[in-house]
Amino acid sequence: MDITPFYLAGQPAHGRDEVVVRHPYDGAVVGRTTFATPEQVDEALNKAVLAPAPAHVRATALDHVSQRLRERADEVARLITAENGKPLKWARAEAARAVSVFRWAAEESRRFAGEMQRLDTDPAGEGRMALVRRVPRGAVLGISPFNFPLNLVAHKVAPAIAVGAPIVLKPAPATPLSALLLGELLAETDLPEGAFSVLPLPNDRTAELVRDPRLPVVSFTGSGPVGGLIQDSVPRKHVTLELGGNAAVVICADWSSDEDVAHAASRVAVFSNYQAGQSCIAVQRVYVHADVHDRFVASLVERVRELRTGDPADEATDVGPLISEDAAKRVEAWVDEAVAAGAEVLAGGKRDGCSYAPTILTNVPPGAKVLVEEVFGPVLAVQRVSGDEEAFAAVNDSAYGLQAGVFTHSLRTAFAAHQTLQVGGVIIGDVPSYRADQMPYGGVKGSGVGREGLRSAMEDYTEPRVMVLTGLAL
Ligand code: SIN
Repeated sequence: MDITPFYLAGQPAHGRDEVVVRHPYDGAVVGRTTFATPEQVDEALNKAVLAPAPAHVRATALDHVSQRLRERADEVARLITAENGKPLKWARAEAARAVSVFRWAAEESRRFAGEMQRLDTDPAGEGRMALVRRVPRGAVLGISPFNFPLNLVAHKVAPAIAVGAPIVLKPAPATPLSALLLGELLAETDLPEGAFSVLPLPNDRTAELVRDPRLPVVSFTGSGPVGGLIQDSVPRKHVTLELGGNAAVVICADWSSDEDVAHAASRVAVFSNYQAGQSCIAVQRVYVHADVHDRFVASLVERVRELRTGDPADEATDVGPLISEDAAKRVEAWVDEAVAAGAEVLAGGKRDGCSYAPTILTNVPPGAKVLVEEVFGPVLAVQRVSGDEEAFAAVNDSAYGLQAGVFTHSLRTAFAAHQTLQVGGVIIGDVPSYRADQMPYGGVKGSGVGREGLRSAMEDYTEPRVMVLTGLAL
């Protein structure tokens, strides 16, 4: 098996220490690459200097990557499944989203021009006008997680290229291959030397990168504790953190027809278990109005039992393994803890190696980890509530605040939810797991700071620079 190169200032390179990438489902070797050496990292950072190419070069490069991802979609999806273990159907969805991320970035890069502001609104500003351009803050360090090994890399790399900021990307050590494939596609473009590097590194070398003054912007997606360490270690850098959550759904009393209930149950069943729950917006908590509770739970249990578990390479599989056996054991321990404290298991509740069965819990006591922490596994807690106010308070009773889903037909309730819920996004009539890649995406409280989504990330990677023009005939 060939050793996949990494990309140092746009060029393929190999380091010294080999990294073996294994399939989470059966441990088979799916690829090999190497860690960049300290000298190679130094070289990449020295070359990550601001020298933006014209917008047409950047837009063409982004369009090229989008097009090549589309052409190679099947191979890309299989690679995602091989290194991450997510079922092929979800890997295909991820590959398609990455096509859209690069396409959006190309479009935004053609439009991103700043704005004019009148200054003659006061006597002192007569004959004056301000031109406000956004300029890159500097080179970006992107640190991406294992759960979307392609698309969450795309969300760091594409906006950086769109604004002309050099990016050094450190993929998750368990899943570097999709990021390296993206490096290969970027290397086919006319982007200038230093526009991007993709450097596999062990996690214990992240801190040195984070502290390096040549990388003034840090964009991190991953766990809360690591995000906190990053923020505390570089208080003067511009840091964006996407740190996960324990996303909740509210089913309101007006979501009550048989069709409504079946639809909500089906969406919750799928999106509490997609990618084995390893998404920051997988449904983890459901608050159901008492009027629909019993019908909803019966339908949910049926839907969850129908989910097919097993080999993620099988097109029919709905739920595959977690990223590692340790991850599955942690989920098992959290469910066992909830059950010992009085929770009832309505479905699942069993581990098999690195897989954990789709699980529904009810009557989970307050404070149980499956309610208050981020499970990042296929586990759902369903609780009965007596009204919207109680449900919204329960959603907000969390250290996190990424997205929430509210099943209601009422516009008034939708606005009340949007006003009340302490989250980065509220999805009406669907699960919180919905994400369109151009939308602002990010959280409040322990879910992080800043927003991704093409336009938002481009604003985040840049700062306004004003030019005042004087003596104008206005
Ligand atoms: C995440 O896990 O934060 C990303 C979710 C998504 O992009 O759908």
